Amino acid sequence: MLKPAATKYRPFPPIDLPNRQWPTRVLTAPPIWCSVDLRDGNQALAVPMNVSQKLEMFDALVRCGFKEIEVGFPAASNTEFKFIRRLIEDKRIPDDVTIQVLVQAREDLIHKTVESLVGVKRAIIHLYNSTSPAQRRVVFGLSKQEIVAMAVRGTCWIKDRLPLLAGSDIRLEYSPESFSATEVEFSCEISAAVMEVWGPTVERPIILNLPDTVEVAMPNVYADQIEWMIGHLPNRDCAIISVHTHNDRGTGVAATELAMLAGAQRVEGTLFGNGERTGNLDLITVALNLYMHGIDPGLDLSDMNALKDVYQRCTGMTVPPRQPYAGEFVFTAFSGSHQDAIKKGLAEWEKNASAESGAAWDVPYLAIDPADLGRQYREVIRVNSQSGKGGVAYLLEQEFGIELPKEMQREFGPIANDAVDDLGREVTAEELRGMFWREYVERTTPWKLEEFQIDRKGHGVRCTARILADGVARDIIGEGNGPIAAFVHAMVETVAPRFEVADYREHALGSGEGASAIAYIQIRLADGRTRWGAGVDTNIEWASILAVISALNRST
Ligand code: KIV
Ligand code: ZN
Repeated sequence: MLKPAATKYRPFPPIDLPNRQWPTRVLTAPPIWCSVDLRDGNQALAVPMNVSQKLEMFDALVRCGFKEIEVGFPAASNTEFKFIRRLIEDKRIPDDVTIQVLVQAREDLIHKTVESLVGVKRAIIHLYNSTSPAQRRVVFGLSKQEIVAMAVRGTCWIKDRLPLLAGSDIRLEYSPESFSATEVEFSCEISAAVMEVWGPTVERPIILNLPDTVEVAMPNVYADQIEWMIGHLPNRDCAIISVHTHNDRGTGVAATELAMLAGAQRVEGTLFGNGERTGNLDLITVALNLYMHGIDPGLDLSDMNALKDVYQRCTGMTVPPRQPYAGEFVFTAFSGSHQDAIKKGLAEWEKNASAESGAAWDVPYLAIDPADLGRQYREVIRVNSQSGKGGVAYLLEQEFGIELPKEMQREFGPIANDAVDDLGREVTAEELRGMFWREYVERTTPWKLEEFQIDRKGHGVRCTARILADGVARDIIGEGNGPIAAFVHAMVETVAPRFEVADYREHALGSGEGASAIAYIQIRLADGRTRWGAGVDTNIEWASILAVISALNRST
């Protein structure tokens, strides 16, 4: 049993904001993105990235289109310092990308941080100190005024050292760490004090980053805190309001999105939400949430698998299979009704797309077109014991061009499901094809076709065939108005029970000289039972006779 909640935990006090505007606003543009993968993400790894992994990650972030990248905490570790020097000295930072470095309000750390940046074209120095009651009490043992003084001193130390970075374009970011657990009035007071010392202007604003360091409340409360700050901050126009959420309550994405509605202009986070504890905000999810509403996020996420590979290689983390947009299962459907709806939706989409009708994406169960993320339709549907006939048919058609007639889908669907059930796992497309082949194409008992020839006589056909009936060779002759009819006649007159052909389809499998054809035949037996059969051969006549035998073999 959980201990009684009310005696141990307290509800979060609401923010007094009777005229809140954010609930009725709509997002129409992306924020300024800042990746903190190389700092916040990196510091949370069991084995932090080495310099070459950091370089690979940095290049991937640049390729994605991030223009602001927090590259490390140079005063905290030699690797970080060396990495930043490498970026600058090897001129690996594109002209339109600004690197960002984190530092606490301590003079020695600030000095080292400034040293790490010598020669940089453009950088953001990110100063932070914690401000919440718990941190003031437990970590610092300082009063509110002493915490404000700490932030102001840190700002002055940075300002004093700017001459060491002459020729570089240096901006300041200030974070009252644990902002969401801090009284909004105090966050405002300390931010205003930092701004006063730094002297930002509308043209050269400060970045005021208001972190949800640990999620302590619902996302609407965070949005209220952001809107409150925007409404109360002196010289608000001289600040870019940035948000930085973590995911302790599982609502990091929601908190960021509502904060954007509340006026946040800049968003910090990491790829796939890597970061301390339950992680930072997953930037990819927020970006693609915008994209699926028709807002270009300004990030290139069109090769999701490649990005995932870089991330997994550099961090040693894995992307969970149900991670929004990126997980292995995102474009799969296990339930038959979902598969059926997806199949129909994709067919409609393909028709519309080829007609260039300008129709918007509206495929059931698929929030976004997998192709937009470089993912393949092949991944869309996989087959397990819950898959419906539609999913099975879709996979055979997409992967191998096998277009099962509707009625045959109804016959093969349950057969495939039972086979998958026996295996106790989902199957690949190749395995599914194997099941189809064993069930229909490779059926050779009791009857097997050895030879087949036809003579055309006027409007009729006479066939001679050699078949093995339970291993014994039999030569049979039949007549009819076509090869299939002649063969049916030969069979029912000699070795087989009475039956007739109820349905017949055929199509090519592949193209070119070596292409084969597949024939599907449904037979009806004298007792009314029906069975499908399939035959494959480079010769369509031969394929159709094989299909008759397949159906007969399946009826015994
Ligand atoms: O989560 C946090 O508050 C941080 C700060 C340093 C911005 O990472
Ligand atoms: Zn953080």
